[in-house]
Amino acid sequence: MKPAVSVVASIALCVSMASQAGDVERGAQLFSQCQSCHAIGEGAEHKVGPHLNELFGRQAGSIEGFGYSEGLTTAGVNGLLWDAEHLDAYIENPVSLVTGTSMMFAGVSDATDREDLISFLRAYSANPRDIPESLPTMAPQDPDVDPSILALQGDPEYGEYLSSECKTCHLADGADRGIPSIVGWPEKQFVIVMHAYKNKTRPHNVMQMMAAALSDEDIAALAAYFKDK
Ligand code: HEC
Ligand code: HEC
Repeated sequence: MKPAVSVVASIALCVSMASQAGDVERGAQLFSQCQSCHAIGEGAEHKVGPHLNELFGRQAGSIEGFGYSEGLTTAGVNGLLWDAEHLDAYIENPVSLVTGTSMMFAGVSDATDREDLISFLRAYSANPRDIPESLPTMAPQDPDVDPSILALQGDPEYGEYLSSECKTCHLADGADRGIPSIVGWPEKQFVIVMHAYKNKTRPHNVMQMMAAALSDEDIAALAAYFKDK
């Protein structure tokens, strides 16, 4: 077993002065939630998950020798880079940022906890001081979807009407031919994912353009329609 929390915390303490953003020391304690699967720091090796050194600025799913899921590998190839904004979204709810990720983790719902964790992770990247500061100011958009948007009741018939454009790529029977199936998803998850394209948290030009053209009501309608397909 690699670094005990106390060792990690003392390393983190040294770095905490360099970082004004989150509370690195608190982040080190919160990292205990990750430690069953991830090691970090000198000599860290892969466990169930990859080691988390040198995360910032790195393409997602790109450490040689770790068997990533296809989902995370594809997201990285499509342009997902780890920065504070994307780490925040991934740690909050891994599946909302990367469908098919093998990180089986419910997520950290508290925004301050995530900020502290990210400051802690940042301390293990090169030149942490040169890495742009702080969540909220740094993240151009809040990756959280407003509860009022999640509460919208979509009209499945209107969703069906809108869906014809989607079906030129996403086949109606959900067959997976390089384009992911979007049928049978829980509505909330569907809405979160579509908004992640809309606010460009999720990389992918075509889907960002598709989502940008949709209103909140359109997205709710599509979610209601595709859920039961
Ligand atoms: C139950 C095990 C588990 C827990 C707990 C867990 N992870 Fe992961 N994590 C994984 C796995 C497995 C992957 C690889 C995911 C994939 O390939 O889709 C991963 C991937 C990651 C990545 C992407 C790394 C890369 O190289 O692109 C980050 C960042 C990450 N985890 C951070 C965290 C943080 C921070 C926590 C705690 C808040 C955490 N994880 C908790 C299993 C876990
Ligand atoms: C021109 C082809 C194309 C069209 C049209 C299109 N999509 Fe997509 N869609 C894709 C591709 C390619 C991906 C995979 C992108 C990625 O890896 O992030 C995707 C991903 C998605 C995802 C995430 C799936 C997952 O498993 O992560 C959802 C949800 C989605 N599309 C919904 C829609 C909806 C709703 C419409 C219609 C409004 C639509 N798409 C129209 C090509 C298309």
